[in-house]
Amino acid sequence: MVLEKINHIGIAVRSLDEAIPFYRNSLGMSLEGIEEVAEQKVRVAFFQIGESKIELLEPTGDDSPIAGFLVKNGPGIHHIAYEVEDIEAAIEKLVQDGARMIDAVPRNGAHGARIAFIHPKSSNGVLTELCRSGHRIRV
Ligand code: CO
Repeated sequence: MVLEKINHIGIAVRSLDEAIPFYRNSLGMSLEGIEEVAEQKVRVAFFQIGESKIELLEPTGDDSPIAGFLVKNGPGIHHIAYEVEDIEAAIEKLVQDGARMIDAVPRNGAHGARIAFIHPKSSNGVLTELCRSGHRIRV
């Protein structure tokens, strides 16, 4: 498997409106956009930082996985996403190696990306996302 870079770090927040000013005004990062990902019941604000992004994740309902995370842990780092060259091949390799996948088949993420999560039990407690950016593959 070829990992190309850290695509983004996902941070769970209760409210984008409350969280954005710290990143935009105090850290001086540029807000690239806000997108709703209906499939994951989140609103995502993303900031570009070098070749990576910081993504703030706000739940859009009580049944959102981010809502569950916030109840359990409070706001904080939710996941790390690695850009992979071939997401299907990466999943296949992980399954062969005995890793537990949350997504055995890729699904839709923000920015038109294809994504798949590895269960944190298989990745040292860190929820890990594989990500194939949408700018090269359009589905
Ligand atoms: Co993500």
